[in-house]
Amino acid sequence: MTATPIVEITSTGRFLPSRVMTNDDLAEIVETNDEWIRTRTGIRERRVGPPDLLAAEMGRAAAAQALERAQLEAADVDIVVVSTATPDRLLPSTACDVQALLGCDNALAFDVSAACSGWLYGLSVAEGYLAAGRGDTALVVATEKMSNILDWTDRATCVLFGDGSGAAVVRPSDGSRGILSSYHRSDGTLAELLYRRAGGVRMPMSEAVVEQGEHLMKMSGREIFKNAVRSMAEACEHALAEAGLTGDEIDLMIPHQANIRIIEATAKYAGIPMDRVFVNVDRYGNMSSASIPVALDEALEQGIVEPGMHVLTATFGAGLTWGAMVWRT
Ligand code: ACO
Repeated sequence: MTATPIVEITSTGRFLPSRVMTNDDLAEIVETNDEWIRTRTGIRERRVGPPDLLAAEMGRAAAAQALERAQLEAADVDIVVVSTATPDRLLPSTACDVQALLGCDNALAFDVSAACSGWLYGLSVAEGYLAAGRGDTALVVATEKMSNILDWTDRATCVLFGDGSGAAVVRPSDGSRGILSSYHRSDGTLAELLYRRAGGVRMPMSEAVVEQGEHLMKMSGREIFKNAVRSMAEACEHALAEAGLTGDEIDLMIPHQANIRIIEATAKYAGIPMDRVFVNVDRYGNMSSASIPVALDEALEQGIVEPGMHVLTATFGAGLTWGAMVWRT
């Protein structure tokens, strides 16, 4: 028997910086080439915003579009959850800045920190908040200014990521559509596979820290790859079982867009052919937690998502964190 949804995604929005950086552009910065990047990752280009473009401003733009499409005012929002691995500052939360920019005067606002998994984690938090009857309208935003935390001398990481922001308005469901299942896990023992060493209490910022690039992202790509496939496969299995569905009954899969090879392997494990998998990693690279809401927004805009469809989404990221959800649209 399939589950009954309590909340639904009412509308979505996205913001992408206008500047396109191609693989050939990157080859002028680091020793790489279009062929290597395309065959190893599936990425052709990504968006890169100017250094002073703030994550909160990007989040505001995506959220404003989602609110407009839901025909809601900022004052209608009860809770603002923002996911970001690239906060504009460490205190207060980026969510409070997004709230202020939008004018969501009646809301509480806070960040979730779960790297690429952050938007799905945030969606789960919003689901719980609305299910408890604490409000009617949640804004779940993911905003990632990855270009500011990349080491542009490290070809193994700088070719993979891009900037972007996605958002959704989440509201109580009438039971016909919405979130059917939700599964999330993390493993902090694997934190050193993807991290930024400096900037917090452990290693405060200093001129030396910045000079040595200790505030930038470091990644063990091959280890992350293995864990990503394993953990997303596990998450899909749990989310499908909880929803009372099998891979055959999934009309569309929207996986985290990190690498086409990871997407293909995960879809195979979940029993979903690639013609039912949404892919935009070729155009945007890995936008961390913004990847899934941007992909969902594009899928809706392209008319790929129709009412009554079952959508499976899966993610993984630094932490390590991972998860999956099934929605009925
Ligand atoms: N251009 C050309 N050569 C490169 C590049 C590049 N951009 N980057 C690495 N290489 C070289 C390496 O130096 C290495 O050379 P060597 O054999 O002479 O030492 C060779 O290519 C192979 O490197 P590998 O790291 O083994 O390549 P692999 O096939 O594993 O692909 C990749 C690397 C694409 C990073 C892959 O491991 C991957 O996608 N991992 C997952 C990363 C990921 O998704 N991270 C995001 C996590 S989500 C989050 O929370 C942000």
